[in-house]
Amino acid sequence: MSAYSSKARLRGRCIGFVPTMGALHEGHLSLIRQAGKDNDLVLVSIFVNPAQFGPKEDLRKYPRTFIRDARLCKNSGVDVIFYPGIAQMYPEGYRTYVSVEGLSDCLCGRSRPGHFKGVATVVAKLFNIVQPDTAYFGVKDAQQSVMIRKMVQDLNIPVKIRVMPTVREGSGLALSSRNDYLSLNEKKDALILSRSLSFAEYLIKSGLKDADRVISAMKQLILKKRSAKIDYISIVDASTLRPLKKIAGECLIALAVRIGRTRLIDNVVVKVSLRKDNR
Ligand code: PAJ
Repeated sequence: MSAYSSKARLRGRCIGFVPTMGALHEGHLSLIRQAGKDNDLVLVSIFVNPAQFGPKEDLRKYPRTFIRDARLCKNSGVDVIFYPGIAQMYPEGYRTYVSVEGLSDCLCGRSRPGHFKGVATVVAKLFNIVQPDTAYFGVKDAQQSVMIRKMVQDLNIPVKIRVMPTVREGSGLALSSRNDYLSLNEKKDALILSRSLSFAEYLIKSGLKDADRVISAMKQLILKKRSAKIDYISIVDASTLRPLKKIAGECLIALAVRIGRTRLIDNVVVKVSLRKDNR
């Protein structure tokens, strides 16, 4: 992979890179298409990264659909798929990890200790191997993209980061490889994530600026669904991820909810101008 990229770069080719864990859907494909528009070559990695799964998480049952993924990549104009094995990425005696302090322990990091360290490490490794000009991420994993931006800045990694909007089903449900775990009824209940976010956005746009009140209104709505168990709902500054009491500026409303045994995440970014008459 490195040799291919080095050669392509020497020839002046611009490389767009989309890191994934496979089980590709329209969300991934939207990143791939954007990479195709912006670059001469599109590289996709498929690697279910053990370092970002906790001991009780779904590493073993995470969907692995390489043949289908390869076909989707081909049809979407991907030039190369990088599909390493675990022993290649983490050989015996592997010792080095990247941790982005202050952005890894909040939000999803709280209930998934070590997760973001695993993500930062694998993405740093992939960037070094693939040597892309630009890498594409989805705002669906908002904390992940904020953390990657920071890592690239702090470690002087010469890769431009582009963050693309969340692709949703017509119903509003954010596409996710983990949606495959949901039963039909659970899939209906899962709509409560995007609905509660739209409701929060509506409340904020109608003038409610007290973060706690917005959060409790969302809680009430979500808990009407029997199968839903809230992991967290947070309203934070979209670039620092610091919690906000008073909603102002560009804020990220992020949540994680368990529907049955499946943990789903979603978020929305709301821009609020500062005004005096806010409640
Ligand atoms: P994965 O979950 O496969 O997602 C790969 C990329 O697709 C991420 O940048 C994610 O934000 C984006 N994505 C997922 N669902 C999306 C949607 N509905 N709309 C738009 N983009 C979406 O995220 C990972 O893999 C891993 O943590 C990885 C970065 C590959 C490191 O292992």
